[in-house]
Amino acid sequence: MKTTAFSTHKFEEPYLVKANNGKHHLKLLESRLTEETAILAKGSKAVSLFTGDNASTKVLEKLNAIGIQNIALRSAGFNHVDLAKAGELNMKVARVPAYSPYAIAEHTIALILALNRKLVRAHNRVRDMNFSLNGLTGFDLNGKTVGVMGTGKIGKVLIKILHGFGCKVIAYDLEEDKELKEKYCVRFTDCRTLCSEADIISLHVPLTSETRHIINAEQIGVMKKGVMLINTSRGGLVDTKAVIDGLKTGKVGYFGMDVYEEEEGLFFEDHSDEILQDDVIARLMTFPNVLITSHQAFLTDTALTNIAETTVYNLDCFENETVSGNEVKIN
Ligand code: NAI
Repeated sequence: MKTTAFSTHKFEEPYLVKANNGKHHLKLLESRLTEETAILAKGSKAVSLFTGDNASTKVLEKLNAIGIQNIALRSAGFNHVDLAKAGELNMKVARVPAYSPYAIAEHTIALILALNRKLVRAHNRVRDMNFSLNGLTGFDLNGKTVGVMGTGKIGKVLIKILHGFGCKVIAYDLEEDKELKEKYCVRFTDCRTLCSEADIISLHVPLTSETRHIINAEQIGVMKKGVMLINTSRGGLVDTKAVIDGLKTGKVGYFGMDVYEEEEGLFFEDHSDEILQDDVIARLMTFPNVLITSHQAFLTDTALTNIAETTVYNLDCFENETVSGNEVKIN
């Protein structure tokens, strides 16, 4: 099937080419999908999109007008696609539901450890021949209470790892997980109680209208002083300005973020020759207790292989008009 893949990056190209093995006619573009670039897909029957692509109403209408019938997402999240519009236009949307929950859970742990043990600061000091330990004191993870919001695929893996560290885990989800309760002594509670009791809070719910700004000034208000907040899910879960206020007062002691509300057009690209226009992220970058990675939690060899193979499988299913099980529809 002729497919235009938007937002393809150097890091994923070899995986896509290998998984495709010449089967589908893939046009790999570096450009993000926007209203202006949609026309580049002309001649294809499908597009393949990444998290930063814009598949809003107007863009879908433009794609549909040039004959695009299928959308293969190279991501698990689909909050960037107007599913209602896609359904209305009879466009099929498929995603990669699980490519490696381990990749994201392990990156979450990397952020927790690096923030706690001040690894970036320590590394920079040593490179500067400064071997002083002052200001580098961390805390034992053992015995700390970690609040995990969302105990789906990623949340579950994270809980298993945290259990190994000797952490107490409390969780918030729409459904309580029996295995997590029995095997890992997880206590399920409501969002507010989780916020008030946890030393570390990690977000693993999807971004929906209910979860947007699930971390806001009110929730931060009930948190323990010096709480560590980690977001490797979606930027919109956090009211970033409220977190900045929390960081300024010391209420938020650490903030690790792999995703950002306004990451579209910023993350994944080299902007080192430009003047940063986003004052919110600019402020975040000034805190020594904030660690930012640019949406790289998924970036492992295993995950990239699985993303590429499932995307090609989804294109096979579009072409053969078979049901992949990976299709996403509005409920
Ligand atoms: P999942 O669907 O397996 O789990 C999500 C969990 O959230 C489910 O248990 C669900 O019941 C719960 N949930 C949904 N709405 C809720 C609500 N309103 N209140 C409480 N709980 C709610 O998803 P998975 O695979 O664990 O991924 C989680 C998120 O991680 C994705 O939605 C995506 O946004 C993000 N992600 C980030 C990546 C990165 O590279 N940073 C890569 C992959 C996923």
